[in-house]
Amino acid sequence: MSDIEIKKLSGLAEYAQLMELQKSVWMLDDYGDCLPEHVMIALKDIGGLTLGAFNGDRIIGFMIAIPGYDEEHGFYHRSHILGIEQEYRSQNIAYKIKKVHRNHAVEMGVSKIDWTYDPLLGPNASLNIAKLGGIVRTYKLNEYGENMGGSKMVSGVPSDRFLCEWFINSERVKERMSGRYKKPVVELNTDNFLLMNDTEGVGRSQAFNLLNPDPSGDVIIIEIPGNYQDIFDNSKENAFDWRTKTRELFRKCFSAGFMVADFVKKEDRNFYILKKDHLI
Ligand SMILES: CC(C)(COP(=O)(O)OP(=O)(O)OC[C@H]1O[C@@H](n2cnc3c(N)ncnc32)[C@H](O)[C@@H]1OP(=O)(O)O)[C@@H](O)C(=O)NCCC(=O)NCCS
Repeated sequence: MSDIEIKKLSGLAEYAQLMELQKSVWMLDDYGDCLPEHVMIALKDIGGLTLGAFNGDRIIGFMIAIPGYDEEHGFYHRSHILGIEQEYRSQNIAYKIKKVHRNHAVEMGVSKIDWTYDPLLGPNASLNIAKLGGIVRTYKLNEYGENMGGSKMVSGVPSDRFLCEWFINSERVKERMSGRYKKPVVELNTDNFLLMNDTEGVGRSQAFNLLNPDPSGDVIIIEIPGNYQDIFDNSKENAFDWRTKTRELFRKCFSAGFMVADFVKKEDRNFYILKKDHLI
């Protein structure tokens, strides 16, 4: 995939391509839930950013960042939409887009980039937490409603979201950008951490199983589905069950002072590692 080039969009034809890509990534019937061209065009003049991953003239991945402000960090970026065409996924393209975004953001004086994502999606957790070094300490309930513009990918289950915060000048992030970071190994059946849940069954039928309802100690682990999209496509009831039960666990842990610090994929199973904030 070395011939994929990440660059800012320019020209109306490229923005028009991005409308098609948004529609196809989110499996939408129309453009109703896409960010319109005129907004993407305006964003480049007001401190936002739209990046495309180009295979020749064809855009196969993209990211749209909106300028934000808060008292602690001043001007920051909300990376509101990120998507890669299905056949190009798991080829490190989103990671490369985020890396280019970070370079532009540093030049613009931005120190924080944030975005929301579905905590049950393994690829997103791998990218956001394990590869990029984002942290999570905020859980948002049904943030965008259940319909999500009628997306066939995700509508019908509450759209709970993690708010992922990416502190782009932190050592934690610099280490992961440099390739120096060594992924942690999770050995189950040790008492180095508290395992809050595990799972029953595999693949499309994998089900949530509660082990410990209350967090304690300094390090805890919450397992999420190996492939939530498959579970969602197979049974909305099971997807809903995962949503409500992990929602309760994550909210309890965040209230008790834990943050999402890492994520580990172990064969077909996915685990979040949560730590007390002074350990991150
Ligand atoms: C989320 C998304 C942008 C990631 O893009 P991508 O180019 O595939 O991301 P990357 O290849 O850089 O990283 C994905 C990682 O997830 C891993 N992964 C793939 N399937 C996985 C799974 N079921 N569970 C855990 N990890 C998984 C990949 O192996 C890769 O990790 P690695 O590089 O260590 O092997 C892409 O899947 C997508 O477009 N999804 C639909 C839209 C979406 O959810 N957008 C984000 C919210 S706006």
